[in-house]
Amino acid sequence: MRIPLEDNFTDIIGKAQRGLEISDSQLAHNSGASEEAIRALHDGKFDRATLDRIAPALHLDADALASFAQNEWLPNDSAVEGLAQFNTPFHDMAVNAYLVWDPASKEAAVFDSGADCSALLEKSKAEGLTIELILLTHAHPDHVADLARLVEATGAPVYLSELESAPNARPLVEGESFEVGGLTIEATLTSGHSPGGMTFFIRGLDQPVAIVGDSLFAGSMGGGNVSYADAVRNNCEKILILPNDTILCPGHGPLTTVAEEKQHNPFFAGSFKS
Ligand SMILES: [Fe+2]
Repeated sequence: MRIPLEDNFTDIIGKAQRGLEISDSQLAHNSGASEEAIRALHDGKFDRATLDRIAPALHLDADALASFAQNEWLPNDSAVEGLAQFNTPFHDMAVNAYLVWDPASKEAAVFDSGADCSALLEKSKAEGLTIELILLTHAHPDHVADLARLVEATGAPVYLSELESAPNARPLVEGESFEVGGLTIEATLTSGHSPGGMTFFIRGLDQPVAIVGDSLFAGSMGGGNVSYADAVRNNCEKILILPNDTILCPGHGPLTTVAEEKQHNPFFAGSFKS
């Protein structure tokens, strides 16, 4: 079953407002829209004129936001041999973990545990894989909820940014890379949502792949809990500069690609318009 988008247009507006620390009254003042109209948008009532006013004040792309609000865009299905996504329920939400392997050597790496790593372990067994490495995008509870069982089942070492902590995790710094069979995995710091959020760029499959955690979602991004400015800048400078056909694997919601996000993500589309 297809995973729904993580955020709707009201989530996007809310994340931008919180990130930029702009209240409804300030947004009304800055944009010329009425507070009442802004509140109606927050309630999910789409209104293009108000959206056109507030989008520039929130550094969002109005066209991308409008098409998002009208459900006109969903990312195309992405798939490449050697990549599997696992979506597991965690309280009232769902979280993704990923299994990536070299189809030739059957050596594999796991990215986050998700809430329940059972399906991931079953897939690994069915494919005859050896899990050599566990890499964590960040240490928020939903992403590491089943880590102890994953470690016990695989015996694989765990790596996490030195700026965060999880039981038995070894420290990881930006620029470190790993070889898994014929695959190369490079760690890049994409902090902002969390202090040590990492993106893992993987070469060696038929298409490049990036495991981005909660740095970026299809059509949205994780909340900039630590620094919204860092989160936006890292996404622009470290993720969206990857090759256009890179499959992006977010911590929540469906797979997407660099090309689709540059065109459709309201946070970034304005920066990449020619
Ligand atoms: Fe998170």
